[in-house]
Amino acid sequence: MSHSPLPESGAKRRTVQAMFDRIAPRYDAMNRLLTGGLDQRWRRVLLDAVAVGPGDRVIDVACGTGDLSELAAERGARVVGVDFAGGMLAGARRRGVPCDLVRGDAEGLPFAEGRASVVTCGFALRNFVALDAALAQMAHVLEPGGRLALIDVDRPRSRVVRGAHSFYFDRVVPKVGGWLSDRAAYRYLPSSTVYLPEGPELVARIEQAGFERVTRRTLALGSAQMLTAVRTGSVNAGALS
Ligand SMILES: C[S@@+](CC[C@H](N)C(=O)[O-])C[C@H]1O[C@@H](n2cnc3c(N)ncnc32)[C@H](O)[C@@H]1O
Repeated sequence: MSHSPLPESGAKRRTVQAMFDRIAPRYDAMNRLLTGGLDQRWRRVLLDAVAVGPGDRVIDVACGTGDLSELAAERGARVVGVDFAGGMLAGARRRGVPCDLVRGDAEGLPFAEGRASVVTCGFALRNFVALDAALAQMAHVLEPGGRLALIDVDRPRSRVVRGAHSFYFDRVVPKVGGWLSDRAAYRYLPSSTVYLPEGPELVARIEQAGFERVTRRTLALGSAQMLTAVRTGSVNAGALS
């Protein structure tokens, strides 16, 4: 299928930020509608995978309206959510998400080294301009041995499933998103998967950023992917500069 034009790196940050500010008021409702509620189930599976619980200090990177932050807080963790889109953070505040919310950039996180025992990041990797810098920042704010939990969309490998998924993701989602929310944003959503490296490369880049024991698991017949890892003792300082 042909992808709609995507912004180049300089414009991408501004475009993505403005887009999330626009769609923030309906973001939660659209997610539940377009995934049939599966998105929340996936977030729970992700938190289970890294055993988030009481005593954990969680930084939820690109927290948006706070879905992952809220679920982590419900498990007894102390959570800080960070996002660069003020509209998304305002949505999290309106919902009363029980955690601190900070405006900031994933590629330059405003936290001290080793502050978190867990870093989560939901459905945001493909939105970053510099994925390696964001991964290095996640390593930086995690204590050694801290757990990383990432989730994002994916494209199924099986040809049959891929066809059906593409029909839904590339045609139905932009149409419904256009009717009920924002046409440009819901055209960007399927197109933005091209920014995500293939599975093995993504795993390698997570390792290079300062992680070990990286696991990658697909969900829902390959339409989503979940990655977990453990922070090693040292950080790739080059990627932080
Ligand atoms: C698809 S939403 C996901 C929100 C939330 N994590 C969730 O699970 O629903 C992507 C979020 O990433 C944020 N984002 C994208 N690039 C970012 C960056 N460089 N720094 C901080 N937030 C960013 C956007 O503002 C948006 O809130």
